[in-house]
Amino acid sequence: GRVAVIMGGTSAEREISLRSGTAVLKGLQVAGVDAFAIDLGGDGANPVAQLLESTFDRAFLILHGRGGEDGTIQGVLEMMGKPYTGSGVAASALGMDKLRCKQLWQGAGLPTPAFAVLDAEVDLPAVAAQLGYPMMVKPVHEGSSIGMSKVRNLDELEAAFAAAREYDSCVIAEQWVNGPEFTVALLNGRALPVIRLETPHDFYDFDAKYSAGDTHYHFDTRLTPAQTEMLQGLALKAFSVAGCRGWGRVDVMMDAAGHFQLLEVNTAPGMTDHSLVPMAAREADISFERLVVDILRTAEG
Ligand code: DAL
Ligand code: MG
Repeated sequence: GRVAVIMGGTSAEREISLRSGTAVLKGLQVAGVDAFAIDLGGDGANPVAQLLESTFDRAFLILHGRGGEDGTIQGVLEMMGKPYTGSGVAASALGMDKLRCKQLWQGAGLPTPAFAVLDAEVDLPAVAAQLGYPMMVKPVHEGSSIGMSKVRNLDELEAAFAAAREYDSCVIAEQWVNGPEFTVALLNGRALPVIRLETPHDFYDFDAKYSAGDTHYHFDTRLTPAQTEMLQGLALKAFSVAGCRGWGRVDVMMDAAGHFQLLEVNTAPGMTDHSLVPMAAREADISFERLVVDILRTAEG
């Protein structure tokens, strides 16, 4: 049947989604799939009307961020009876909510950095006393490191909180974990080769992710086989505890004591030429075309 590659959207990650979606569409077409693009919400279009007006049998969802990666479009497609790739409504919503995801992982006994919620009543010096400097300030519902800052003192904490609130009414501060940072791509119940990220930036920020040429991606992870197995197992567990399915990517930091700490799960991770899932797939001898066809198969129905 006909496949709609749903991309774009209206989130802060719109441009990244268009890059991911264009690559996915091309990959599917090269693989011989009858696929076309829907630029959801582009030019102010009503996304629900766009879906209702399009003729397709399955959807490849490659929207990043709110209004697409967060369960909302998944809900519309459920109501339309159209199968779609990746996680369902609840898991997508959780994956887009760093705070509730951390709470869920804590409840399941999985490691994630200590954090505090920053809201209107928050006592910032008390947060600083609790978490110590430096710390990471994050909007709860963003991706691609948008609105995030590393802070080293109270002035920076205040400024970072204000900056994150521009993106989201819900903000958290997270205890700093020195790293290195690792990412684990997951595909159909299997963990792909682990990637170790190295950036000269303060952290793996938007620029380091998409523009700067100075981020290094290593399959030489410097982990022992036992650590690698533990990390991949942790990523699979974090994914399944959140109810995720199909494909995704789990981001993890190693702390100073050598323990892995879960940062977040991405239920529709980037598929651009800078992105990590295609990189991990390639390392596992899975071509981009085969990867997108494997992901498409996660659209059950
Ligand atoms: N949120 C970006 C697209 C990623 O996780 O790759
Ligand atoms: Mg993300």
